[in-house]
Order: sequence, then structure tokens, then C-alpha cells
Amino acid sequence: EKPGLELAVVSVPSYACQRHTPLLHHNITLTDALSILAENAELGENEGRGVAFRRAAALLKSLPQEVRGAEQLRGLPCLGEHSLRVIKEVLEDGVSLEVETTTHSEQFKAMKALTGIFGVGAKTADRWFREGIHTPSDLQRSGHTLNRAQRAGLQYYDELNLPVTKSEAVAIGQIVERAVHAVLPGAEITLIGGFRRGKQTGHDVDFLITHPDEGREEGLMPKVVSWLEAQGFLLYQKTTGNSYLESKEGPARPASNMDRFERCFSIFRLSTDNEGREIQTGREIQTGREIQTGDGPQTYSPTLTNTDPHTHSDSPHPLPQTLVVVGDHAQKVSWVLGHSQCSGPRSWRAVRVDLVVSPYSQFAFALLGWTGSKLFERELRRWAVHEKAMTLSSHALYDRKRTQYLRASSEEEIFAHLGLEYIPPCDRNA
Ligand code: GTP
Ligand code: MN
Ligand code: MN
Repeated sequence: EKPGLELAVVSVPSYACQRHTPLLHHNITLTDALSILAENAELGENEGRGVAFRRAAALLKSLPQEVRGAEQLRGLPCLGEHSLRVIKEVLEDGVSLEVETTTHSEQFKAMKALTGIFGVGAKTADRWFREGIHTPSDLQRSGHTLNRAQRAGLQYYDELNLPVTKSEAVAIGQIVERAVHAVLPGAEITLIGGFRRGKQTGHDVDFLITHPDEGREEGLMPKVVSWLEAQGFLLYQKTTGNSYLESKEGPARPASNMDRFERCFSIFRLSTDNEGREIQTGREIQTGREIQTGDGPQTYSPTLTNTDPHTHSDSPHPLPQTLVVVGDHAQKVSWVLGHSQCSGPRSWRAVRVDLVVSPYSQFAFALLGWTGSKLFERELRRWAVHEKAMTLSSHALYDRKRTQYLRASSEEEIFAHLGLEYIPPCDRNA
């Protein structure tokens, strides 16, 4: 194959779940432009239009090389008339007028700022925008009655809009692990969401919890939450119970996006010091293994006594430990922390964390359903329904022709049931 040949000579499958979509790709300028339009459509509650732009962007993310001219796009799927027009404009002029207009529009900016508040969706933001509320500060001044989530969202607005780093995610993971093992030894905790796909930052940290003995996981979330609360790790939490019941007639609500696992939306209080180093100060331990400073990695061995009554070991054992971060991010964090309170800088930051508990028999489905990306998930469900007459959710896969559930204990098996090539998490960044 000679360089410069049309991309269209390679046939590209039309569902994102049939393609490998790595995190880093060759068409960022184009996908950034399309993402803005997708976001704008979503904020305007025009879901169909949003999906069309997302699909077009996802197609470009999966291409093996940079698109330099519109003629290279001939024969490619997923590119609607509108998306193609935007792509051509960006290719020819470097920018798209529609994208520029959108980014600079008062409405788009306000809607982004308002939905950037945890607990605020597009509907609420739109209502506020119409009342002249454009920023979190406007909202604060308005005296509107806010629910508990929104109050927390407003209180920690700046911090929650700082990206969460991988090392912060790891630190949170260690706290979650301690909590879960304290109340249910043998439980398994998996990092899901964007970090599982290899992202270096995220808007939150997502975990899936299960236990190999089915049934042991029932009622786990309230216990984990109590433990975390008692240790002072939670700034906010909202827990919902498991409401999933498998029926013989198949899923009652096919292709539904919402699942019914025990889950918890929360805001964690993650310790940092002024330079962004993590210093764990739970009730009974103070531990660290490796702390990076400007002078490079240093190691120190903590003395640690496990005083947790729930773990059956009285020998001191070092918990895996952490450090969060140095450099740029740490500076940003301390800047925000220093400005978010009148009382000056403090030594912790707020981080959004999602916890989900799944029964062991549904684990593979939960893992697949919560790893994302959102578009990849949507495309999997669309493929299942339209190409296989199956219904896929984060709980199960139902074959409508054979009228039975298809079991799976790994993601690989689910892809196989669906007649799809296995796509690893790092290639699900559609
Ligand atoms: P960042 O957090 O922005 O880094 O990206 P992310 O991909 O981790 O997004 P997010 O945390 O919002 O969601 C993670 C995955 O969980 C995505 O694939 C979502 O589709 C999925 N997800 C989120 N909420 C739900 C839900 O209520 N039900 C189900 N089944 N999946 C959900
Ligand atoms: Mn996430
Ligand atoms: Mn999440």
C-alpha cells in the first residue's frame, strides 16, 4: 500500500464495537470539532443529533492515519451530511464556523458551566439559563433551593472540575479496597470506566465490586459506605439498592441504559499535602511507600499496625501505598484548594467516585457495561438488537430468538456470543 492512497480502500465496519479505537489517534482536530457539536446537541437535549456527531467522531478516531482531504473519506460509514460538511470546513480552513460560533455562544458556555455542577442535568441548567443564571456564582447568588447533590456540587465546583489523575485514582482504589475488605473479606474490586480504558485522567473514578460466593455481596454497599463515613472519607454519597430481577420472559425494559445494581455516587475526601503529595490519615494508619518530590522518587517504610477488627490478621502488613503527584497537576490542585476556601489552602481535595456492586454471575456484563466508552456501550447494544436480535444490558444478554439468557463469565465470551471480534478495553475509546 502506498502512502497517500485513499483511506476508503480499507473497508471500515460501521458499528464502533466492530472497530479498535485507541485513546490516541490521528484526527484530533476533526474529532474535537465534532465533539463540540455533539456536546451542544446533548445540552440542547437533541440526543439523536448528538449521537450522529459522536458516531462520526468515533469513526475518525478509529482510522489508521490522518485525514488530509475530504476525498479520502469516500466510502466510509457513519459520516452524515452535516458531519461531512464540518470535516471539510476544518480540513480546508482549519476551523469550522459553526463550531466557533457554538464555542463562543453565551448559551453553550452557560450550559457547560451549569451542567458542570455535580447533580445538575441539561433540563435544570436550561431552566436556570432562561432565568438569566449563567454561572455557578449566579446560581449561588440566586438563592434557588438546591438538592443535596447540587449543594455538594456547588461547594466543590472547582475541584470536581479538575481532572482526576491516575495516581489519585490508585489512591482512591486503596481506600475503597480497605473499606470493602473490612466489611467483606474476599470481595474483588475492579477499576472500571475511563481508567480501565487506559485514560490518564478522568472526571471521576469508577469501581466495580463483587464476591466469588454469589449472595455474599448482597447489602454490601451500605456497609462500605458506613465504614467510609466513619473514617471521614466521604463528603457526599447517595446509595441506591439493587432492583434487578431476571424474568423468564426476558428483560422487561429492553436496551435500557439504566441498570439496577447496588450503587453509590459519591464525593471522596482525598488527602493531599500542599505539594499534592498524598498522605493517608485514616484513623489507625499513616502509611506511605514511595513519595515523589521534586528530587525524584524516595522510599520510606512506614510502621504499620493493622488495628482493623474485621481483617483476621494481627501481624503488621504494609498496605500498598501511594503517592499522588507532582508537578503541574499538584500545582493546579493546590491553587484551587487555596482559592476554594476563605480559610486558605487545605490538605485534601474532593474527588467524584462511583461504586457499583454486582453479583458474581453478572460480573462480566457489569464489567463490559461500565468500562465504556459511552458510545462504545451504545453501539454494542445497537449491534445486539439490530444484528443479533439480542438484548444486552449490564446484567445479562438475552437471545430473543432462542428466548433464553446467554451466560458469560468473561468479556471475551460476551463478544463471542454477539459474534464480534474481542476488543480490549484500551481499544474501546470510541
Ligand atoms: P470519565 O469519567 O469522564 O473519565 O469517563 P468514563 O468513561 O469513565 O465515564 P463515566 O464515569 O461517566 O462512565 C463510565 C462508564 O459507565 C460508561 O461506559 C457509562 O456508559 C457507564 N455508566 C455510567 N452510568 C451508568 C448507568 O447508570 N448504568 C450503566 N449500565 N452504565 C453506566
Ligand atoms: Mn469515569
Ligand atoms: Mn462514573
